[in-house]
Amino acid sequence: MLDKINSLIEEVKAFDAQTLEEAEAFRVKMLSKKGAIPALFHDFKTVAPEERKEMGKKLNELKQAATDKVNTVKARIEASEGKLKQSADKPDMTMPVNFDPVGTRHPLSVIRNRINSIFQRIGFVISEGPEIEDDWHNFSALNFPEEHPARDMQDTFFVEKSPDIALRTHTSSVQVRVMESQQPPIRTISPGRVFRNEAISARAHCIFHQVEGLYIDEAVSFADMKQTLLHFAREMFGEGTDIRLRPSFFPFTEPSAEMDVSCTLCGGEGCTVCKYSGWLEIMGCGMVDPNVLENCGIDSKKYTGYAFGMGIERIAMIIYQIRDLRMFFENDLRFLKQFEAAT
Ligand code: DAH
Repeated sequence: MLDKINSLIEEVKAFDAQTLEEAEAFRVKMLSKKGAIPALFHDFKTVAPEERKEMGKKLNELKQAATDKVNTVKARIEASEGKLKQSADKPDMTMPVNFDPVGTRHPLSVIRNRINSIFQRIGFVISEGPEIEDDWHNFSALNFPEEHPARDMQDTFFVEKSPDIALRTHTSSVQVRVMESQQPPIRTISPGRVFRNEAISARAHCIFHQVEGLYIDEAVSFADMKQTLLHFAREMFGEGTDIRLRPSFFPFTEPSAEMDVSCTLCGGEGCTVCKYSGWLEIMGCGMVDPNVLENCGIDSKKYTGYAFGMGIERIAMIIYQIRDLRMFFENDLRFLKQFEAAT
């Protein structure tokens, strides 16, 4: 009998169940009227008096262990079923809030917004024009001669020939639209997308972005332009930035210049980014050619003005140290996610 009790104690110890049915079946097997333990109590009557004390103690231990086991297993199963039920029909208010991941602004948008706001703070207003332009607004009004190479199919995407309709090759076309519709004083910047028939590489793309600037009033001088562009350069690239204007040529400005900023990486000392020149070219600029003013119905005897144009990709590449222009257009999330902190 002692063996039987011991083996049942082992069985109780080892028992576990996943469902209430299993636990109940075990209770019936062990503890119900016809179960194994009451049967042992029945047999207990036949035990010799000298063994009774020890045997009785063992038997009670077994009964207690079986009762405890059934109760704890049932309680555990009930508790976990209850939890499942609760989470199915009402939200668990203790769960951490699960924010959906927020998208990031494209680096070109970040830089465009910064350029816009630098000029807006000094009184420039934003103007926009169409991406599909006619020859007049993209070329003729801007003083491009008839045989200018930019008018060639090699450089420009034509939508229609005669009359020439093309994808604008620069945002200077917006200058013309603004001057045709407003009299000075004019202070405007025109951000937008432009198109050129170029082979795609790390340094060129057939689609890119520019910001055009235009300031026209009485007695606007080259010095005004220089001061405004210096202000822009310092706001954009930092207080210590210097600028340099090199003579250049554009059909729509006279005189024309190319503007460089002191290298943002080496501060002018010379490094691989500025190719050891200490300078980075960022825009074209100049005094609006009187022919352009007259083409747009503005009296060139009374008014003068300056214009400038820069590539947004170029500025973004300098600020973020991006070496390949194609990155901006590939929408690789590993690239875009790096601008999470930019606004
Ligand atoms: N439109 C020129 C280009 O796409 C950039 C430019 C140069 C704009 C000089 C201007 C300017 O307004 O004055 O390369």
